[in-house]
Amino acid sequence: MSDHRQKAIEYAHQNRNQFIHNLEKIVAIPSVSTNIKNIPDMVRAAEWIAGYLNELGMDKVAVMPTAGHPVVYGEWLKAGNEVPTVLIYGHYDVQPSEPNELWKTEPFTPTIQGENMYGRGASDMKGQVIASLSAIESIIHQGPLPVNVKLIFEGEEEIGSPNLTPFLKEHKDLLASDVALNPDAGMIAADIPTIVYGLRGLAYFELRVYGPEHDLHSGLYGGVVHNPAQALCELIAGMHDEQGRVTLPGFYDRVRPLEIEERQELARLPMNESYYKEQTGVSAVWGETDYTPTERIGGRPTLEVNGLLSGFTGKGSKTVLPAYAMAKISMRLVPDQDPVEVHHQLKKYLEEKAPQTIRWELDVMAGGPASMADPHLPAAQALAKGLEQVWGKRPVYKREGGSIPVVGDMQKILGIDSVLTGFGLPDDNLHAPNEKLHLPTWYNGIDALINFFFNLK
Ligand code: BES
Ligand code: MN
Repeated sequence: MSDHRQKAIEYAHQNRNQFIHNLEKIVAIPSVSTNIKNIPDMVRAAEWIAGYLNELGMDKVAVMPTAGHPVVYGEWLKAGNEVPTVLIYGHYDVQPSEPNELWKTEPFTPTIQGENMYGRGASDMKGQVIASLSAIESIIHQGPLPVNVKLIFEGEEEIGSPNLTPFLKEHKDLLASDVALNPDAGMIAADIPTIVYGLRGLAYFELRVYGPEHDLHSGLYGGVVHNPAQALCELIAGMHDEQGRVTLPGFYDRVRPLEIEERQELARLPMNESYYKEQTGVSAVWGETDYTPTERIGGRPTLEVNGLLSGFTGKGSKTVLPAYAMAKISMRLVPDQDPVEVHHQLKKYLEEKAPQTIRWELDVMAGGPASMADPHLPAAQALAKGLEQVWGKRPVYKREGGSIPVVGDMQKILGIDSVLTGFGLPDDNLHAPNEKLHLPTWYNGIDALINFFFNLK
């Protein structure tokens, strides 16, 4: 092992408290991208990162405006033409913390309990951002970086990256790189280093159903006026068949079938039905009958109701026939489904199935295609080796069910593949109350990233 690498890892071990301190600083900023009231916090988070990049001696550090939340950029290109340039991606925005009453600690007061740090964004993905920057700090403190790096941190990942696509197009030259490192994915378990080679896409909608002109007395009108809440539920219920398949017309037409080899690989992952029952607390799993849970999560498209709203939901009772009902509905997509086509499929379903008794409106909220990366890329191999150097075993390869819209965009616009990793765990409560980060795994992650940069050379 090179002297520089050794020293960098020693530095990382000695400075863990400082890294934690940095993470606490950024987790304490409520950078909730979906809420306009948090705009000042978004700016504060962006500026905090820019400040850190400056401290690290990065060049061209800037908080760059977009039509939405700003992008933070920085670069260090002094390693020369012989070695690759890595584009390191991160997002500094987080999902809302609500419902706050279910948190055991304050969501934006990072709190360490035992081996975990609790706080919104600790795992998704401020922890991963700080892990990447801590790795760079550790290397750069002991000598020059072995590769060139460009860093880009967006503030809109959790709302589907609406302004990142134009940003990538506009700054194609600035961002030109050989490969991207995207630590926004996660691990299967603390002792199973993981490389993610596939992500699902997303198509997200709001469906509104209107009935009578205003709320009605359910005794005077029930049985004559079709209840919009009921009509919406009927429409939603019809979106799956008895085998758990999605019924939108043409939904599976473009779905790339899972090859037998890949099914064999996925069968090796230690995630069976009892794993999912244990993780979630459900008494039985559900889904498309012909596929295993790992296949259904990584390699098959799904449709979920993310939210429902109608009628009286306060304490007590009210005999009302509501005038309005709303559902948030999203589909996770696999290659080669197209979010725009899925929109048409949903529209067609509603045109065919919605009854005359109601009126409906459909809005597109967010979307992006699925992406697949080649696990044999040199950078993926450098990461695999880096993980093995720390965990003492070879990583497993997984197709992830979540979405990171930028991965497909970087492929399309910048022509570069991403290497996906991350040091969050399945029980980190991403997007949920009591999000946490497992610190021992996070420390390992920092060491693995240090190794990754040296292995890339
Ligand atoms: N980091 C997650 C996605 C993820 C989670 C990938 C776990 C792999 C493992 C990311 O921040 C996320 O939550 N993305 C959103 C995207 C959406 C809002 C467009 C998602 O998947 O819901
Ligand atoms: Mn997320």
